[in-house]
Amino acid sequence: MKILIASQIDADAQAHLEQGHDVRSVVGQGQDALVEAIVDREVLVFRSGVSLDPGTLGRARDLKLLVRAGSGLDNLDMDYVTGRGIVLERIPGPGAQAVAELTFGLLLAAARNILVGDRLLRDGHWAKSKLTGDGLRGKRLGIVGIGSIGSRVAELGMAWGMRPLGCVEHPSDARAADLAARGIELTDLAGTLEGADFVTIHVPLDDSTRGLIGANELGRMRRGSYLVNIARGGIVDEAALLAVLERKDPLVGAALDVHVAEGEGKVSPLAGLDNVVLTPHIGAATRDAQR
Ligand code: MLT
Repeated sequence: MKILIASQIDADAQAHLEQGHDVRSVVGQGQDALVEAIVDREVLVFRSGVSLDPGTLGRARDLKLLVRAGSGLDNLDMDYVTGRGIVLERIPGPGAQAVAELTFGLLLAAARNILVGDRLLRDGHWAKSKLTGDGLRGKRLGIVGIGSIGSRVAELGMAWGMRPLGCVEHPSDARAADLAARGIELTDLAGTLEGADFVTIHVPLDDSTRGLIGANELGRMRRGSYLVNIARGGIVDEAALLAVLERKDPLVGAALDVHVAEGEGKVSPLAGLDNVVLTPHIGAATRDAQR
């Protein structure tokens, strides 16, 4: 088959495909290269960082299969894909584990001042007395979106001695009972924000979640709390978060793996703050998950 690889995938997997197929790669070459290369392709393998709008997909008259090497579909026009009858395969499971694990890396980095300490130490400053942080044990872990990733985060949180609560898109008594049996309290968004010391976000980006966490929602969070967004940029209003973190009230820290503007040369508006940890959308980027 004629395959186009638009985003980085495991090198062995790509080599395997190359043994039996006509494979082209435009990884890291930008949207224009993708638009040009897609024309004669039957299969497209992609992750985040590319835009699969009708204009781009419409150029690929022979396209039969889309392989989403991961989970999110916010960069794909699903109406167009369904209308044309193109088959879509997602592989959400392995990335979910990687994202759940990094959630705790970010949470600890923010709450224990790991990056500030690292930066200061490299400049010869022994800032031990200034870097007292917050522990996790006994704290309430608020999960916005208890799905595949959010429920793993809850389980990992319990292993740290945290007490998880959170919200889902379609709550029901059955769902609440199921979660309660697993040690997770189901509440709504306001209850999650108001009741947690650490809030982590695990919902997809769509019309219902764009701007979900704005100034009002941030204002509901506990004094001294932390926010982790490892879902998608655009779910959290970055300008509102900047204002809150500058005041350190009510949030004292945040960690963001995802951003409104992503890609080479883009700088987060929060980059000037010491109480923010920033990573370049590496939630699913473990060798294990990609393989
Ligand atoms: C995903 O949605 O699977 C993740 O954001 C990983 C990615 O696409 O890079």
